[in-house]
Amino acid sequence: MYAKWRGWEAAAAAAWAVGQFRFVTTAATTCRAVVLPRFGSSEVLEIRPFVAVPELKPREVLVRARAVSINPLDLRMRSGYGRSIFEPLLPLILGRDVSGEVVAVGASVSSLNVGQEVFGALHPTAERGTYADYAILSEDQLSVKPSSISHVEASAIPFAALTAWRALRSTARITKGQRLLVLGGGGAVGLAAIQLAVAAGCNVSATCGNKSIERVLEVGAEEAIDYKTKDIQLAIKGQFEAVLDTIGIPETERLGINVLNRGGHYMTLQGEAASLADRYGLAIGLPVATAILLKKQLQYRYSHGIDYWWTYMRSDAEGLDEIRRLLEDGKMKIPVEKTFPITEVRQAHEVKDRRLVPGKVVLELD
Ligand SMILES: NC(=O)c1ccc[n+]([C@@H]2O[C@H](COP(=O)([O-])OP(=O)(O)OC[C@H]3O[C@@H](n4cnc5c(N)ncnc54)[C@H](OP(=O)(O)O)[C@@H]3O)[C@@H](O)[C@H]2O)c1
Repeated sequence: MYAKWRGWEAAAAAAWAVGQFRFVTTAATTCRAVVLPRFGSSEVLEIRPFVAVPELKPREVLVRARAVSINPLDLRMRSGYGRSIFEPLLPLILGRDVSGEVVAVGASVSSLNVGQEVFGALHPTAERGTYADYAILSEDQLSVKPSSISHVEASAIPFAALTAWRALRSTARITKGQRLLVLGGGGAVGLAAIQLAVAAGCNVSATCGNKSIERVLEVGAEEAIDYKTKDIQLAIKGQFEAVLDTIGIPETERLGINVLNRGGHYMTLQGEAASLADRYGLAIGLPVATAILLKKQLQYRYSHGIDYWWTYMRSDAEGLDEIRRLLEDGKMKIPVEKTFPITEVRQAHEVKDRRLVPGKVVLELD
């Protein structure tokens, strides 16, 4: 079966190379994928050989995945986070990030061609994930992979960097000369945020774990403060125009709000919409979440004169384009700590669950 697919891929690439055709239809009808049949520990993950590959819609692209990175969302989804959305979709395929080659494009795709190396990320609520030999993304969720980085390196970037991009460029609209504080700067989103802000001409401070201090400074932060510092507010010098809180616990929220100038933006990645929807169901949970958010927004506007946001990853072609340019210029990188073959996906999830590997873990597909 796999040999047959490989033959098909080779034929598609060869046809593209000689310019015989521009569009191909989805020839692979099934493929190997990591499937989540029910919520639970890493043990519930199953590798299934013949999972359906849906027909491409006009704006979609079929990608032969070579590397997919593990995001915290994958672990949380596996454990039941977002069950109000995902439970009816079980069994489902996990994974948001991917790097690989285009093997087929939908009829309306104009910016990508069969044979190109691409990377990108799905929206957080996408139904069919990327832990599969063939992933399907829309054209605007993909960009050409810079040749200077490997599939493994590229797969670590898009979901985290687009999360940071949306907060900084789309929500806070950071501009040159502003000051940004990243609370939890040592993780993938934190590192991406520091690099995006530095590239935009901002001055960045960050808090992080002791072991991340060097890494945070290396990517351009002016100061990196250990979380465990006794009076952390005193250690952070001055006030800021924007705070990105990747941790989102009450202590970090209080700290972030207190160090903002009037007119500043506090953005947490730990919005409560999904957990409230899980607890009360979508019909009640989402309106409750909106009410809580509005209350906080009004409260902080009145008490501190600042804007308060729950911020979420969203696929964004403009954002991915900027991220690609930064990668090409060597101004963005998220280090990959460890790789596993996709066949060892359970072990890979296990090491992330148990926090045995602090940085990015990537699954490779041969
Ligand atoms: N809202 C959204 O759409 C969205 C999108 C992406 C991510 N997120 C969330 O944002 C957070 C960061 O994501 P990420 O991709 O940057 O994750 P990551 O690469 O795994 O980084 C997480 C970092 O958080 C720091 N940290 C602080 N307190 C921690 C604790 N108690 N346990 C473990 N780590 C702790 C660690 O940095 P140090 O090593 O420096 O301590 C760790 O490296 C996650 O909670 C994720 O679920 C939300």
